[in-house]
Amino acid sequence: MNLKDKVVVITGASRGLGKALALALAKEGAKLVLGARSKNELDELAKQTDAVAVAADVTREEEVLDLAETAVNKFGRLDIWINNAGMWIPHGLIVSLDMKRVHEMVEVNLFGTIYGSKAALLQMQKQHKGTIVNILSTSALEGRAGSSGYGASKFATLGFTKALVKEAEPEGIHVIAIYPGGMRTHLFDESKPENYQDYMDPAEVAQKIVENLKQEEPEAELIIKRKTA
Ligand SMILES: NC(=O)c1ccc[n+]([C@@H]2O[C@H](COP(=O)([O-])OP(=O)(O)OC[C@H]3O[C@@H](n4cnc5c(N)ncnc54)[C@H](OP(=O)(O)O)[C@@H]3O)[C@@H](O)[C@H]2O)c1
Repeated sequence: MNLKDKVVVITGASRGLGKALALALAKEGAKLVLGARSKNELDELAKQTDAVAVAADVTREEEVLDLAETAVNKFGRLDIWINNAGMWIPHGLIVSLDMKRVHEMVEVNLFGTIYGSKAALLQMQKQHKGTIVNILSTSALEGRAGSSGYGASKFATLGFTKALVKEAEPEGIHVIAIYPGGMRTHLFDESKPENYQDYMDPAEVAQKIVENLKQEEPEAELIIKRKTA
C-alpha cells in the first residue's frame, strides 16, 4: 500500500518502537495520530512529524475511543491502527512475581490491544477497509523461564489477534501480527536482560514493519529476529 496520506494511529508512540514507527511513517507521508500517557514527549514528536498528539492510556477504554475519535474528526477516516503500547517486568521466577505488576502488564499488553482493536474496528467497519497491526513479540511464540507473566500477556494477545483476523477479514479489514525479537528500548529501563547489547535498534525494526505495510499484499505474520538470536 502507498502510505502517503494514510491516516495512521499509533499507541505507545512516546518512545521506543512506537516513536520509531512514527518517524518512519512520517517519512512516507502518512498522517499520524500519536497516543501515549507522556504528553510532553508526544508533543515533541508530534512537532517533528507534523502529527496530532493525544494523551491516551490504553488501559482506559474511553481514552482509546477518544484517540480514535480524534483521528476520525481530524481526517475523516482511519487507514491503519497500530497497537504498540506495551510494558514488561524484569525477569523473575513465577514464585517471585509481584502479581499487581503482572495484572498491570496484562492490562496494558492484552486489554490495551483489545480496546485499540475495538476502537479501530468500529470505524473501519463503516469504511469496509483498514489495517490493524498488533505488536506481539517472539515471547508469544515460546514459553521462556523467568518471563512467564510477559509471555502470558503476549500469548493471550496472540489468541485475541487470531480471532480478530477471522472477524475482521470478511469485512475487508486486514490484521497484521508482528513478532519482534529483543530491541534496545525503554522497556528495559529497570533491568537489562542478558545480551541486551545485541538487541536490535527499534528504528531497524520499524523500517521492516513499514516495508511490509508498503507491499501490495503485506505478510499477515512477520517475525523480526535479531541476527544473533
Ligand atoms: N523492546 C523489546 O525487546 C520488545 C520485543 C518484542 C516486542 N516488544 C513490544 O514492542 C512494543 C513497544 O515496546 P518498546 O520496546 O518500544 O518499549 P518502550 O520504549 O518502553 O515503549 C513503550 C511505549 O508504550 C507506552 N505505554 C506503556 N504503558 C502504556 C499505557 N498504559 N497506555 C498508553 N501507552 C503506554 C509508553 O508510553 P507512556 O509511558 O508515555 O504511556 C511507550 O511509548 C510493546 O508492545 C512491547 O511489548 C518489545
